Amino acid sequence: MEKSQIIMLEKTDSTNRYALAKFAELADSTLVLAKEQSEGKGRRGRKWLSPIGNIYASFVIKKPLHPAQNTYIGAVSAIETIRKFAPGIPFWIKWPNDVFTKTLKIAGILSERHCPENYNKSDGAVVGIGVNLNIGRDYFETNRLKATSVYAETGKEADILKFAISLHSELIRNYGIAVNSPDLLFKTWKKENILIGKNIDIIPESGFQVSGVFKDIGKDGSLILTLPDGHTRKLYSGDVSVKFK
Ligand code: BTN
Repeated sequence: MEKSQIIMLEKTDSTNRYALAKFAELADSTLVLAKEQSEGKGRRGRKWLSPIGNIYASFVIKKPLHPAQNTYIGAVSAIETIRKFAPGIPFWIKWPNDVFTKTLKIAGILSERHCPENYNKSDGAVVGIGVNLNIGRDYFETNRLKATSVYAETGKEADILKFAISLHSELIRNYGIAVNSPDLLFKTWKKENILIGKNIDIIPESGFQVSGVFKDIGKDGSLILTLPDGHTRKLYSGDVSVKFK
């Protein structure tokens, strides 16, 4: 097997799809990067618009980790790299794994497990990371997206390759922490979830919107919600919204 590396593609349908299809031949910790994607995938079956200028990356994980840890690796690495390129701007994580500044999304994570053919058990995962880097505000307005980019926040274009190299080293570092001290990575990720304690609305994968207080996050990454009647409910996926004052 080859050494971990960054593979740069001009264009692909989705870097996650590419990395999953070539999983057996890619070395552990490889980062697959594309300048653009024709069918970028978002969470919950949504599309991820992928014009030239942003980061579309998939990180190959070949060690058996708890699925939640795969996404912590992606989210913590993304927020830490974004901070390096946009110093002084406050970023936070909206559960489960969106990186935000103020009320606007700047990055998203889609982690997918790999299962070898004719075999039910997963032998690793691909962590997809999309970061809005050099796209201007007008793109988000035209596409009616409540989103922003490093460029829109700082007024400076970032070098895509430099960003990718920095992201790759953060991913390798946080992967090491996930293997050796998963609890530490969990705590680092949890600290970025600034909505804990706030009133939120959440639309779970199956079902109707529920409202309550975002009480805590379980070790498995679940959102613990206190309902108005005092009962608690554990949610494993969903879209959180909050009324910012
Ligand atoms: C989300 O917030 O909905 C997750 C978005 C994940 C997008 C990235 S871009 C690189 C990788 N390849 C994909 O097709 N999706 C992820």
